[in-house]
Amino acid sequence: MIAAAGSGERLGVGGPKAFATLAGRPLLDHSLLAVAACEAIDRVVIAAPAGHLDTALQRLAEASGLEGEAVAGGETRADSVRAALALVETELVLIHDAARPLVEPGLFDAIVARLCAEAEADAVIAAAPIVDTVKRSSRPHQGAEAGLVEATIPREDLWAAQTPQGFRTERLREAQARAESAGSLAEATDEASLIESAGGTVLLERSPTSNIKITGPADVRLAAALLAGPRRV
Ligand code: CTP
Ligand code: MG
Repeated sequence: MIAAAGSGERLGVGGPKAFATLAGRPLLDHSLLAVAACEAIDRVVIAAPAGHLDTALQRLAEASGLEGEAVAGGETRADSVRAALALVETELVLIHDAARPLVEPGLFDAIVARLCAEAEADAVIAAAPIVDTVKRSSRPHQGAEAGLVEATIPREDLWAAQTPQGFRTERLREAQARAESAGSLAEATDEASLIESAGGTVLLERSPTSNIKITGPADVRLAAALLAGPRRV
């Protein structure tokens, strides 16, 4: 499943981020090309912005040649994923953000292999070690002022959660329903956190440093430079 229904406010190209151009192709195409190169994936469900379902299906056909469907996303990412999960019929599901176009096919395959090999895992997620020194501020990110430092958080065991994230589909459905009842589904910024809240087991799969997220214009330039290089690193 590809979450591609966001509006892309911070990128600011005047349309959905999934269709912004990276290296001559819509952002969404890059994830679809990676998916098409996977052993483990043969069907794709795309959560697309309302009014762009036809475009999403066209990109699916042209970039991947795979079977699939598109569904209108919701208000939040969690809502979009919930809507798309309703169309998933397989025992395992991989969820990926269109905002991570440099994902490598091997990462999808590695996550599926771990889910198959490790029976106790409800989920396996791509993640990267935190390399910056981490400070807690007196104020949230969104505020006008950055605030003052309250603490330095030891980072030896901190990881940044990314996508793709792989799940046993029924476990994820149960965890979503649980969060929905508790009124906390919309706050979830990834699906693994729903599994954690439900007491499930989530394993980390170290991702390549190239698996960057496109948020603002500088990220597009960085991604284009990585794609233009001799190989992905
Ligand atoms: N997403 C989604 N449905 C939403 C919001 C986000 O499917 N209602 C998807 C985006 O398309 C993206 C991923 O979730 O692939 C991560 O979201 P983000 O990077 O925040 O993208 P946008 O919400 O589009 O960007 P912004 O927050 O700048 O508007
Ligand atoms: Mg967003």
